[in-house]
Amino acid sequence: MASPAAPRKLFVTTALPYANGPFHVGHIMEYIQADIWVRFQRMQGHQVHFVCADDTHGAPIMLKAAEEGITPEALIARVNESHRADWARYAISFDTTHTTHSPENVELAQSIYRRLRDHSPSLIGRRTIEQFYDPVQGMFLADRYIKGTCPKCGAKDQYGDACEVCGSTYAPTDLIEPYSAITGAKPELRTSEHLFFRLSEPLVVDFLRRWTRETALQPEVFNKIQEWLGDDDADADRELADWDISRDAPYFGIPIPDVPGKYFYVWLDAPIGYLAALKKHFDSGAARSAYPDETRSFDEFVADPDVEQYHFIGKDIVYFHTLFWPAMLRFAERKTPTNVFVHGFITFSGEKMSKSRGTGISPQRYLELGMNPEWLRYYLAAKLNDRVEDLDFNPDDFVARVNSDLVGKYVNIASRAASFLTRYFGGELAAPAARPAWWLTSHDDTARDIRTWLNERQYSRAVRRIMEFADEINRHFDEREPWKLAKDPARRDELHRVVSDCMTGFKMLSVFLAPIIPATARAAAGFLGVDRDFTWADLDVAPTRIGEYRHLVTRIEAKQIDALLAPPEPVAPAPQRPAAAVDAPRGANATPAAPPPAAASAGAAPPATISIEDFAKVELRIARIVNAEHVEGAAKLLKLTLDAGEGRQRTVFAGIKSAYDPATLVGRLTPMVANLAPRTMKFGVSDGMILAASGEGPGIFLLAPDAGAAPGMRVK
Ligand code: MSP
Ligand code: ZN
Repeated sequence: MASPAAPRKLFVTTALPYANGPFHVGHIMEYIQADIWVRFQRMQGHQVHFVCADDTHGAPIMLKAAEEGITPEALIARVNESHRADWARYAISFDTTHTTHSPENVELAQSIYRRLRDHSPSLIGRRTIEQFYDPVQGMFLADRYIKGTCPKCGAKDQYGDACEVCGSTYAPTDLIEPYSAITGAKPELRTSEHLFFRLSEPLVVDFLRRWTRETALQPEVFNKIQEWLGDDDADADRELADWDISRDAPYFGIPIPDVPGKYFYVWLDAPIGYLAALKKHFDSGAARSAYPDETRSFDEFVADPDVEQYHFIGKDIVYFHTLFWPAMLRFAERKTPTNVFVHGFITFSGEKMSKSRGTGISPQRYLELGMNPEWLRYYLAAKLNDRVEDLDFNPDDFVARVNSDLVGKYVNIASRAASFLTRYFGGELAAPAARPAWWLTSHDDTARDIRTWLNERQYSRAVRRIMEFADEINRHFDEREPWKLAKDPARRDELHRVVSDCMTGFKMLSVFLAPIIPATARAAAGFLGVDRDFTWADLDVAPTRIGEYRHLVTRIEAKQIDALLAPPEPVAPAPQRPAAAVDAPRGANATPAAPPPAAASAGAAPPATISIEDFAKVELRIARIVNAEHVEGAAKLLKLTLDAGEGRQRTVFAGIKSAYDPATLVGRLTPMVANLAPRTMKFGVSDGMILAASGEGPGIFLLAPDAGAAPGMRVK
């Protein structure tokens, strides 16, 4: 297991998160993916500089701060605190974290810009463009801040770049009756001079073609870039669009040095933030204190061709990282990235995560519920691979994986072997030489494979092999029946060998798992007499004694998962206006068939009457049941597919299994609550609620409209 003679020198980043709010679980997934890789490389003895920063500039952050009545600086400071807390709590081992709103970033962004400008021919062009301007807010409006009526289908309140109803794309100036999404004002067309990075220059395109060829990109990423760049011969004259890199004041960003009143577009200075964070890491002395041999300056280090530079990113920002970023670096005469590692998105029971729709899980709430971050790290590792694929978080699968693998297989070995070692041998293991190497026959291959796969980011494959190894050890334990050996004093040596071998296997498992579940592995190291984090070389050192065994990982309890998936508690109603009776139920399911949840009745008594305005908040519509089916593992639920005349179908889980055969439901019309916040349930996301009557006795009775009603009709 010796590390290669010369340690690799790695500069590794994740994407820089926007400083406009706390992390969602997609962020955490990316950090965990990168952190596992980095910890693995450190265990090999490689030199790793792992940095991140908050991405603080741009209009959204400026506007959000204004909305809250604080300065952007105050907003980004507050968000940074929350980000740092989560990085620490999920054990993300960044060496340095920084911010793009920093002197290092200003210096680097301005100097890279000057290089591009002074390049011959200049790679920075100027062009006057026409753009919508909000006269009330006093600023130019990005496409996302303009709304209006879709020119194609006439849908109201569509964004400036694309219609969410008919899917067509257009320019904001095509919108009918455009208005500012910020103030509602009618925008004016104004002209302004913008700066452009001339990606269309043949020398830039040539360089990008070469970089793409010479970089070991993932196949999906390579293909995407080919689409953008076109083929060398076939599309020799295809042009990349020039990239607009300037924004007019007011803007929260970095001033463009030679153009007063203009700022760099946030996506120009964001990736430069990678370098700014690394510069801080070197200038602060952190790099040298981690690696005393690394005595070079930031400038020397970052220019070293032997330093490998990797960026972990999500699939939505590939364009920025494979076209703009390498081109910016190359033509500012800097080293280009060695590779970008692209991951897909995390989904929830097959649905896209969405804050506004209330789907997904909150990483902050996860921790507040006392759930172990290492469970999530393990689960994600068990599902992550090196491809650009979405990863589905499935609550049942999550519980099963953690409880059966980590607790049932891995920890189980330590707890079973420890009881014999402590009871009969004072915690001492048999000397390795005195042992048959039953597992040694396979363990070299196992270790080699796991090392290869972790290095290639094929974590799911590595985890599968690790758990096969755990199975092998457990099987050995069961076959040798140490509880029987213990009854025969003549077989003490045999007993000692069996449980010592199993404990040695447990140590190996702990080394393999250390990048994935670092805190657990650290505790295991302590228990095995190693007073530091494991390195890969620890695989070859058999443990000699154990300490007192304490349980290393507990099981996930079902009620924790239920609490995690429950919709956030509604804001407590003001005393004079208690919650209306139509508030979303918070019980096991969003149907009236479920008994009223205790929490709903525990608070203020429902009011005797509600206003018509209160009632109007409930959007009742007629829906057709397009499909109905049983849900595996669900005692009360049916899964319904509903058409409420919206041009899309909805999935609703309804607690009517006891009363209806799904086949009899298909084709029926029934009223539904169409504006209920979707909620992630164990079996998927339920997007609405159907209505049914029930009383003291048995029976659940769906409502049905009179003939003539049609899907989409409003019920008032
Ligand atoms: N600020 C830019 C990145 C600048 S890098 C120089 C940005 N920030 S972000 O906060 O929106 O996203 C940060 C990272 O999270 C990106 O890599 C993005 O792909 C990733 N994810 C966002 N949603 C995600 C999921 N649902 N699942 C997995 N990753 C997701 O983009
Ligand atoms: Zn449209």
